[in-house]
Formats: sequence, structure tokens, C-alpha cells
Amino acid sequence: MTASTAHTTSKTKTTAPLQRRISIAPMLDWTDRYCRYFLRLISQHSLLYTEMITTGAILHGDTDYHLAFDEAEHPVALQLGGSDPSALAACAKIAAQYGYDEINLNCGCPSDRVQKGRFGACLMKEPALVAQCIAAMKDAVELPVTLKHRIGVDNQTSHAELEDFVGCTRNAGCDAFIVHARNALLQGLSPKDNRNIPPLIYDAVYQLKRSFPESEFIINGGIDSIEQIQNHLEHVDGVMLGREAYHNPYLLAEMDALFYGQTEQVSTRLEILESFLPFAEQALAGGARLHHLSRHILGLFHGQPGARKFRRLISEKAHQDNAGIEVLLEAMALMSNYCRATSAAQNNERPPAPTPVKG
Ligand SMILES: Cc1cc2nc3c(=O)[nH]c(=O)nc-3n(C[C@H](O)[C@H](O)[C@H](O)COP(=O)(O)O)c2cc1C
Repeated sequence: MTASTAHTTSKTKTTAPLQRRISIAPMLDWTDRYCRYFLRLISQHSLLYTEMITTGAILHGDTDYHLAFDEAEHPVALQLGGSDPSALAACAKIAAQYGYDEINLNCGCPSDRVQKGRFGACLMKEPALVAQCIAAMKDAVELPVTLKHRIGVDNQTSHAELEDFVGCTRNAGCDAFIVHARNALLQGLSPKDNRNIPPLIYDAVYQLKRSFPESEFIINGGIDSIEQIQNHLEHVDGVMLGREAYHNPYLLAEMDALFYGQTEQVSTRLEILESFLPFAEQALAGGARLHHLSRHILGLFHGQPGARKFRRLISEKAHQDNAGIEVLLEAMALMSNYCRATSAAQNNERPPAPTPVKG
């Protein structure tokens, strides 16, 4: 059995309407199925996105490798990269059979490779083509079809152009707009710089919501605290978190209670780690390498005593040949000790005072 078939493939989709108040961004090489399973242990309700998967990879590659996912990941959205309406429609159909809850089209990636394929952020210059893509996918499946885009490309700073893009694709049936609140510069900046250098203009997204009040807008870019999320939710329908959710995943533990009204007690970091073990064992038995799984959990103890040792232990040992579940067990034992010590300190428990020596 290969890693791709190690987990149960879901063939059923969530029936309740999708809630997009909190979602986790598509991140190439990061939000793979292992990462998503782990994040789902922390938040039951946040909407998870796959990495961008191109239509070519789905139609001509190992479809199951790209699309299989664990039933526990629901609700989960597939992000597609492409610009050929019929190829996108074919992929949307396949994705629906796999049980995805939403299809999202990438109109925000600025990489050279993606531009050469005429998709990603450069599609913002072709609203009519994007509208055709949306219409073709909507015709093909019953699922919600959404867009993830920027507020503009290159020196396009006019809000009217952004509104044209949204208006045109909304008329074609786009169900929600996820807006990374900065421009994409198509020349001269790496994808990484394109996530940091162009300034964030949240007002542009708020303005979209005011202009199209019936449509759903999710804001994205540089959001890293509960307070910021709460502020954005005063203006838009949802918030998408990217890097912060990856580097500090336990931030998600508060989301279900705060934004989905869940009253159950949240799991501790250690409980989450413990719940990840059976999944990890199953994936390892299916042929996965430990570091493919463990790289996604390095941030679990972010900001906690012992976090650095936790990261170091896993990073050093998970790469070794035949590294297995014992590495995670060792990391768990390490962090149990830290947690015990921390709660002892918090409770003001101290070692017994030394007995005075009689002279
Ligand atoms: C490693 C990495 C890979 C990314 N891959 C994708 C991708 O496949 N599709 C996409 O639409 N955006 C991708 N992005 C952009 C994120 O989805 C998000 O828009 C961006 O990081 C801004 O959000 P943040 O500031 O909360 O991280 C990626 C970001 C990172 C850090």
C-alpha cells in the first residue's frame, strides 16, 4: 500500500451549507493531507483547503495520489490551478466524486511557472475567461465554486477594475470570494516576496463587501491573532489564515468556541499529539516517511516552554532511516515533562524545603 492509499478515501460530502467564517489557506507543499488531518484535530469546524493542484496533474497524473483524503478532514475544499474551462469542469466532476466540499480556483499565485501556464494571478487580467471557468465548473457540479484572488496585479490599483473582476465572476455564479488583500507583482518578485512586499490594503476587501453585500467575502493576508479576526469579521464574512495557522497551529483551538459556538472543552496540545499517533502509525504502515508527517506538527508547542527542544528532537530524528512512531512518543514524553513542570510552577508547587541542619 502506498502513502496515498494509506487512508480512507471519503466519497461523501458534507451536506450542511459550508461555513467559511474561519478557513485555512491553500499552501503548496504545506497543506497536504497529513497537515490537514493534524489541523482538523485542533479545530473541528474551520474550512481546510488543499494545496493548489493543477488540472494537468489531476487529468494526466496519479489522480488518487493528488485527491485522496481522509474523511476526518471534512469540510475540505480543493483548490485547482488552471484556465481551460473544460479541463476545470472535468476536474470539478472528479473532485465531487472524491467528496470535496468546495472547488476553488486559484487567481492569486504569481509564480513564473503558473504564469507560463496562463493561470494563477495573471487571470485577474482576464475576467471574461475566469467567468467562463466558473460557469463551466458550476454546470459540471452541485458544489460551491469559489475564487481566491488578489486585489489587483502589477500596477492595477483602480478599485473599479477589481469590482469588474468580482462583478463579472459573480454573474457567472461564483459562490464566494477569498481575497488576499495585496496586489501580486508578476515581474521581479518571488512568490515569497509577493506574500510580504506589496502592502496589505484591507479596506479594498471591505469595500468589495459594501459594493456586493449579497456575496460572501473572505479576507486573507497577514492575519495572526484572535483580535484581528474579530475586527475583520465586523466588515466581511470570514477570515482565512495561512502562515500563522501553520507555524502556530494551536491558535486554531479557540476557533470552534469563538466562531462556531462549540461548547465542548478544547483538547490540550498533548491530547492533540496523542490523537495524531494512530493516524501517523497508519500512514507509516502505508509507506509514508515520518518526516513527511512530523514536519507539520513542529509548531504545536509554539511559545511554550520546551518548544525548541520539541522541534529539535523531531527535526533531527524524523529524517533518520527507519524513523518510526517512537520519535513521536519520545517527543510526547519530553513535552509531558515540560507540561508537568509548568503546571507545578503555575500552582506554586515547590519542592519541599530542605530540613535545617542541626549544628
Ligand atoms: C508555503 C506557501 C504556499 C502557498 N501556496 C498557495 C497555493 O497553493 N495556492 C494559493 O492560493 N495560495 C498559496 N499561498 C498563499 C496563501 O494561501 C495566502 O494567501 C498567503 O500566505 C497570505 O496569507 P497569510 O498572510 O495568512 O499567510 C501559499 C503560501 C505559502 C506560505
